[in-house]
Amino acid sequence: MRVLVIGSGGREHALVWKIKRSALVKKIYCAPGNFGISRDAICENIPVNDLQRLLHFAVKEKIDLTIVGPEQPLVDGIVDLFENNGLAIFGPTQRAAQLEGSKVFTKEFLARHRIPSAAYAVFSDYDQARNYAAVARMPLVIKADGLAAGKGVVICHEPAQAMEALSQIMHKRVFGAAGDKVILEEFLQGEEVSILALSDGEHLVYLAPAQDHKRIFDGDQGANTGGMGAYAPTPFLTAEGFERIQSEIMAPTIKAMAGEDRPYRGVLYAGLILTAQGPKVLEYNCRFGDPETQVLLPLAQNDLIETIFAARSGLLHRVQWRNREGATAGVVIASGGYPERYEKEKRIYGLDKALDQETMIFHSGTREVQGNPVTAGGRVLTVTAWAPTLRDAIDSAYRTVGKITFDGAYYRKDIGAKGLRSP
Ligand code: AMP
Ligand code: GLY
Repeated sequence: MRVLVIGSGGREHALVWKIKRSALVKKIYCAPGNFGISRDAICENIPVNDLQRLLHFAVKEKIDLTIVGPEQPLVDGIVDLFENNGLAIFGPTQRAAQLEGSKVFTKEFLARHRIPSAAYAVFSDYDQARNYAAVARMPLVIKADGLAAGKGVVICHEPAQAMEALSQIMHKRVFGAAGDKVILEEFLQGEEVSILALSDGEHLVYLAPAQDHKRIFDGDQGANTGGMGAYAPTPFLTAEGFERIQSEIMAPTIKAMAGEDRPYRGVLYAGLILTAQGPKVLEYNCRFGDPETQVLLPLAQNDLIETIFAARSGLLHRVQWRNREGATAGVVIASGGYPERYEKEKRIYGLDKALDQETMIFHSGTREVQGNPVTAGGRVLTVTAWAPTLRDAIDSAYRTVGKITFDGAYYRKDIGAKGLRSP
């Protein structure tokens, strides 16, 4: 089989790494890919948002299956486009991808089906939003409705902060039309967990529960980022807690989406908070997570392509997802300054050293200049390690992180620490 992966991040590198291990696959393509991916797949320099060119490429190369990494092409309808042209692709249709494409759609959907989530109000009028925020309980969470590259959420601890966020989103329109509507929602307290499942529209197969580290600094301080590291499984989530997430959140979501004529096929990724009242949905993503994928796929034992074909045929109830014993930890190395301004084109050293056993280096923002890897983005690499215990997986990942250098390289020192602290 010939498989095409769309995207250029660590998530896509982990997908390519996993697909390479499938007995069903002969050739792997990636558009556009990066330096690391080009070592494992044939890269074609097509931007992820150029759906027509991606379609033409898939037709020309007789691609048997396309897997989409990022949300934008899904929300733009790449699955509809490929399927209408007779091509196999794994991901939700445009209507189903609204679960990530519109936060207002999702909040109303969750409320309609009584799926637990934070209390909220929606505003399209700037003055009304300001009036509400002026008297709302703090902290207050403000979210732009549409896609904002992970930057559309502001946690406000005082009204002045809320006013500033509303001004940015609704008045200065820093996210454009994505800020036409805003959600003002209750701040939820508790441990955060990422639940990823594959769905065929009816059945679900769950990957291990994972935890991302969204903030830039140790101890979850500073600005939100795309994610600075992850580990799996999460020791603080009990079997009973996981069961509740499945029966109160994930399964009802898939059932309700089908009932609303938006059957959901693809990866459903729920960002949840385990509150004192039980698990609640923070957000849905319609794709694999980054950096969760970099720790979840190395933990998985199943053939991903076989599972995806089962999902495309509505046969996921026949698949038993198996994870290895032990744990994986993945540490993101970022460019200094990220998620604000940062420099690129820094030569990366240490990638050619022999890798320790059970260690993987997934590339995000890297590219090749005269045969050498240089930085090309905010998040540059994810180093993942597997070990029999989380403690050892973390230590092992950091050992390899310590061997990689580039000018301004930055990483958090506490990836997985919350997992170790859990009783
Ligand atoms: P999102 O972009 O929706 O993933 O939100 C970014 C981050 O903001 C989440 O990962 C949470 O850490 C935090 N967050 C979002 N909504 C809430 C909420 N209602 N209560 C507490 N934290 C939240
Ligand atoms: N891990 C955050 C995301 O993929 O959106």
